[in-house]
Amino acid sequence: MIAYHRQALAQQMAHALQGRLLFGDTHNGLFLAAPRRTGKSTFLQGDLTPALQQAGIGVVYVDLWADTRRDPGTLIAEALTQALQAHLGLVARTARKAGLKNVKVAGTLDIDTSRIGQLDGLTLVEALRHLRDASGQPVALIIDEAQHALTSEAGEAAMTALKSARDQMNRPGQVDLMLVMSGSDRDKLLRLMVSAGAPFYGSQIQTLPPLDTDFIAHVAALVEAQRPDLVPVDRAALQEAFAAFGHRPQFFMAAMGAVLNPLSGHDGRFEPELQRAAQDQQAQDEAQMASDYLGLRPLEQAVLWRLLDQGPRFRPYDAEALRFYRDLLGVPVSVPQTQKALESLRQRSPVMVWKSARGEYAVEDAAMHRWFQGRVEAGTWPPGPAAGRRSVDERFQATEARPA
Ligand SMILES: Nc1ncnc2c1ncn2[C@@H]1O[C@H](COP(=O)(O)OP(=O)(O)O)[C@@H](O)[C@H]1O
Ligand SMILES: [Mg+2]
Repeated sequence: MIAYHRQALAQQMAHALQGRLLFGDTHNGLFLAAPRRTGKSTFLQGDLTPALQQAGIGVVYVDLWADTRRDPGTLIAEALTQALQAHLGLVARTARKAGLKNVKVAGTLDIDTSRIGQLDGLTLVEALRHLRDASGQPVALIIDEAQHALTSEAGEAAMTALKSARDQMNRPGQVDLMLVMSGSDRDKLLRLMVSAGAPFYGSQIQTLPPLDTDFIAHVAALVEAQRPDLVPVDRAALQEAFAAFGHRPQFFMAAMGAVLNPLSGHDGRFEPELQRAAQDQQAQDEAQMASDYLGLRPLEQAVLWRLLDQGPRFRPYDAEALRFYRDLLGVPVSVPQTQKALESLRQRSPVMVWKSARGEYAVEDAAMHRWFQGRVEAGTWPPGPAAGRRSVDERFQATEARPA
């Protein structure tokens, strides 16, 4: 299992977060989007966290997807509670060692950490201030899959509280609270900042760059070191396969392991095998989406189709949407029926639809948009029962045969 580190990128971000750049807005929050499984959490924990710590910043990390059954507001409060408890323990021990009795260091010893974020307890703002005082360091709060906060009112409130904490704790030249938020879906993350009432109105999203040529070069060098018979490894072919795996290292590495396995039975170069594996994975992903779609009830399919087609403009119950469902199904569709279909799209497994606390909808997995677009462009939307198994040639002919 290889962990490839991106220290330079982490350093740059740590620098920007401290407001050390002449221009830029990162000290007001760093918002990072990248598709699922492309290495966000790994980077945030394995690269950014140590870079910040080295710069003398205390880091609190919380992943809102760690347990999706729990309220995101609670998860944030708990992460702060834990960090604060660790520091208070340290403060108390130091005080005991120094032989001091009843010491209060910056008023922090008498905090009831169990009630952080609760109505009668310490607010998030107070908790963050205490954490800074107790640790004597600026605090960086990293919230992974932050868009999930918008699915509950407590989560939304936590986001608003963090924005307010940022405004209270930071001054020009002194950044005491750094906020990093990541998300697997740019459109959903964007909801933290687009509308005038959004907690981080006016901030910008950046794309966390996918692992790239440096990562591929690193992997290729490892192969060459272990298998002199394979020198030189075709880096361009590896790069191409990695892209076909959607820049997801886990699948890429698993396929590398399989094609390099001496017991795999094929001889000759491994690169073509790897590319074949990448294409198989792509076909498999798409077949899975098609089969998930086909497993839905007709109205659920129609609603999902509308959502895929409209994206952020989706309004489930407006006259145009209802007409769309009716045209597809051939029968009139009511608002309650649509509500029921949406609810079932949110509850089923796998979850297909995401809903914010304000009643905005999005597809759960942004990869579905690419799949939908691809099929629309190829003229193969909607998927038919045997769609997953049709060959590329057949699909091509089907496109050709359609009247322009
Ligand atoms: N820098 C890296 N080097 C090697 N493998 C990685 C790296 N980043 C991610 N991976 C692999 O990809 C998987 C998914 O990464 P993760 O960070 O969980 O993605 P995300 O948070 O974007 O969904 C990890 O379990 C790991 O196996
Ligand atoms: Mg993650």
